Amino acid sequence: MAQKTTSSVSAFVEEVTGIFSQYWGGHYEVVQTFFSRKPAQEDLVNWLEWQAHKEIQSIPRQAKSILEMYENLDEEVERGEMRHEAYEMADEILHYCVLTDILEMITGRRRPAREFVGSTSRESVALREVRRQGGRGRLADLVGSFGGPGGGTAFSAAGMLIDGGPVERQLAAAFKIIHDQELHHYQSARFAFDQNVGQADSSELPGALEFARNLARAHFLERNALFSYPLSPERIAEIDAGLVARFDPH
Ligand SMILES: [Fe+2]
Repeated sequence: MAQKTTSSVSAFVEEVTGIFSQYWGGHYEVVQTFFSRKPAQEDLVNWLEWQAHKEIQSIPRQAKSILEMYENLDEEVERGEMRHEAYEMADEILHYCVLTDILEMITGRRRPAREFVGSTSRESVALREVRRQGGRGRLADLVGSFGGPGGGTAFSAAGMLIDGGPVERQLAAAFKIIHDQELHHYQSARFAFDQNVGQADSSELPGALEFARNLARAHFLERNALFSYPLSPERIAEIDAGLVARFDPH
C-alpha cells in the first residue's frame, strides 16, 4: 500500500476545492451574463426544456431504487438511506414543477414529462462521458457527489438575484427553491468527503484529482452551452486561467 502523509491529503483537498470554486465562479457568471442581456425567448425556452429534462430524468431510477430498498428495509437497508433517497427524489420533482410552471406560462402549452429530452450539445455529451468514465473508486465518487450540487448552488445563487418582469420574478423564486436544496445536498456530500478523505489511500489521490478537474470544467462548459453560450471562448480561456471571482457554496 502506498504511504500517505497528512500534507499530501491536505494539499489534495486544497487543490480539489480550488478547482471547483474556480469553475463554480464560471457557473455563476454564465447565469448572471445570460439574464443581464435580456435573453431571447427561444434561448430561455430551450434552457427551461433542457433543465426540465435534467430534473425529471432521474425519477425512474430513483423510484426503482426506493422500491428495492423497501424490499430489504431494516434488513440490509438502513431506514435513513431510504429516507434520504426519497427526499432527493422529491426535491427533483419540485425543481421540475417550478420550472415547468414557468415554461407553461411562457409557451401557453403543457407537454408530457417524457417528451423532454436532454441537450445533445458537444458539451453535454462530454460531461456525460466524464461522469461515465470518472467515478472510479470511492474517493472519486465522493468528489463527484459534492461537485455536482456545488455547481447547482452556484448557478442558482446567480438566478435568485434576477429581476425585470413577471417571468424573471418567478424564475428568481424557482432558483431560490433550487438553491436551498442544492446547498443542502452540497453540504451533506461535502461533509461525507471531508470525513472520508483522510482514510483514502494515497494511490487514489491523483485519479480523484484528475476527475475533479475534468468534472468541474465539463460541468461549467455544459452550463454555458445550456444557456446558449453567453460566455465567449476568450472568456472561457480566462476562467480556465483562474481569472474569475471564485464561488464557494454557503
Ligand atoms: Fe434538481
